[in-house]
Amino acid sequence: GKGNYRHFMEKELHEHPAVIGDTLRQYVDPATRAVSRPALPFDPATLPRLWLSGCGSAFIVCQTARYWFETIARLPCDADVASELRYRDPPMTGGGAAMFVSQSGETADNLAAMKLLRTGGQSIVSVVNVPESTMSRESDATLMTVAGPEISVASTKAFTAQLSVMACLALNFARARGAIDAEEEARLTTALLEVPEHAARLLDASAEIEALAEDIKGARDVLYLGRGSMFPIALEGALKLKELSYIHAEGYAAGEMKHGPIALIDDSVPVISLCPSGPLFEKTASNLQEAAARGGRIIAFTDEDGAQALRRFASRVVVLPKVDPFVAPILHAIPVQMLAYHVAVLKGTDVDQPRNLAKAVTVE
Ligand code: F6R
Repeated sequence: GKGNYRHFMEKELHEHPAVIGDTLRQYVDPATRAVSRPALPFDPATLPRLWLSGCGSAFIVCQTARYWFETIARLPCDADVASELRYRDPPMTGGGAAMFVSQSGETADNLAAMKLLRTGGQSIVSVVNVPESTMSRESDATLMTVAGPEISVASTKAFTAQLSVMACLALNFARARGAIDAEEEARLTTALLEVPEHAARLLDASAEIEALAEDIKGARDVLYLGRGSMFPIALEGALKLKELSYIHAEGYAAGEMKHGPIALIDDSVPVISLCPSGPLFEKTASNLQEAAARGGRIIAFTDEDGAQALRRFASRVVVLPKVDPFVAPILHAIPVQMLAYHVAVLKGTDVDQPRNLAKAVTVE
């Protein structure tokens, strides 16, 4: 049941810290801070290419993971929407591997994409939350997310569990490929192991997100912006707001603003940016400043190091714990999901069962 929570989504949001922690414990040795993993049907040290496929929020996980596999593991990687991948017929050289990310393990488009990549000579791995699911049965290997049953149609804890699995794999592959040393691996796993505690503090401090939801609930359109691995989290924020509150929202790479979307900006359009300190901070901040100069209402999620610069032009700055940029997408996913939840509650929509949506999409 829902216990003392109003909705399954609220309960499942509060399970983020436990689920992330449980997932990390499967991979990270707390003593050595090294990442181990179950046997896989390929050798990551010599893998020429990795395909990632998913739908909806699971595709957003794939897009985030692509940044990690490329930048940390130096592994050529593609992230595709399963419904496109299944018909795109990309040229393939045998010997690569493909990972299919899905909470339900029953998503029709992912199953079809799986068949295509198997035919193209790729090893097939599924990352699923439901054991004995069809995707798991049709894979060479399965990695479980152990998020527990997710009842709310909108994915929350399964999303951060999927990100946690992919982050661990990226570090494990990076070591296997000689892209990072043991010291760097320990530094990054330490950052991962601190996420559950930070997540718990965010969930305890929901008053600020609820106040922000009051600001957003009357908007007709909302833009979400991010750069690098924060760009997919902008997509997640927009997807969750759309599906739960029925407010039109779009996620963009911050650098794309001036190529079109900036034409939408006026003082009625909240611009929510995911802008933690790190190598891309200055670039994102300058895109935001351009939007502010055109009357945009800037709402920034950042950390203590980024807050001062953003306060000069943002109408609201939400300060999150400062973490390594590697784990920032996992942490930032939580407040954007919370925001969508609170806006939906204020609007009185059916939070756990948004209109027109199904938990498992088993038809094309
Ligand atoms: C978004 C959401 C959907 C699912 C998508 C994939 O909150 O819940 O976008 O992520 O339908 O479902 P699975 O993960 O079961 O393949």
